[in-house]
Amino acid sequence: MSDVSELLAVSALCARYGKVEALHDLDVSVGRGQIVTVIGANGAGKSTLLNALMGALPPRSSATGTVLLEGVDISRWDVERRVNLGMSLVPETRELFSTMSVLDNLRLGAFRRYRRRERGWDDQLDRVFSLFPRLSERQSQAAGTLSGGERQMLALGRALMAKPRILMLDEPSLGLAPLIVREIFTIIAELKRADVAVLLVEQNARAALQVADFGYVLETGECTLSGAAADLAHNPAVIESYLGLGAGARRDGPDQSQA
Ligand SMILES: Nc1ncnc2c1ncn2[C@@H]1O[C@H](COP(=O)(O)OP(=O)(O)OP(=O)(O)O)[C@@H](O)[C@H]1O
Ligand SMILES: [Mg+2]
Repeated sequence: MSDVSELLAVSALCARYGKVEALHDLDVSVGRGQIVTVIGANGAGKSTLLNALMGALPPRSSATGTVLLEGVDISRWDVERRVNLGMSLVPETRELFSTMSVLDNLRLGAFRRYRRRERGWDDQLDRVFSLFPRLSERQSQAAGTLSGGERQMLALGRALMAKPRILMLDEPSLGLAPLIVREIFTIIAELKRADVAVLLVEQNARAALQVADFGYVLETGECTLSGAAADLAHNPAVIESYLGLGAGARRDGPDQSQA
């Protein structure tokens, strides 16, 4: 990672829920305009990592360690300040307003910019519609009536309305058919061109390693491997645990009739 300047630098991050440690001594680095993935099985600590970075861990949990964004130590900041500095999280649950229209959901994504009286607070709308033409066609449709793939697009689009420097995505492939996963990941790859860095946590290691520059493997709260995404995709241990005959491979597998 030496050739890209660092945007997010996380060191010695530990997180616990009560007495139970969910993340142990984690170092993560994301360069400007880079896509970095953290892959791991159920319960590995992926969502905990993103929530800790966002300053959004639930009550009775705690985090220690250092989080720097553009060199600024934000470790003790609340969510609001982190968002204002350019962090954006699309949670596993998406959290859309189902009775509101697509357009209003998108505008809400820029609410903080509006409240700060930022000139051109909704200037990302055209960009979001060009990334997701389907959202443009469905502007007045209620979010709750969108398909799963469209809801994920809306969640991504809403996060982009805040004009983040780093977009953190919690399992964007969850519950989506392989074709839609491909479409979503193609769009994630396009964000690079707009210089938005992405921290992507995924169980679908195959899709994540295809789109990422760099990756970390998380196992029960600890990083067991890291490296260039292309190298990880060829690493026998990763292939065996995450790319072999696991769930991802079965879902993407070309022919199940011979199994
Ligand atoms: N609010 C909580 N209170 C107590 N323990 C929790 C809480 N949230 C998560 N944990 C525990 O922390 C560990 C990591 O959970 P986390 O949700 O971060 O995993 P994950 O990698 O995101 O899993 P998944 O792929 O299923 O979403 C798990 O053992 C989980 O039971
Ligand atoms: Mg999770």
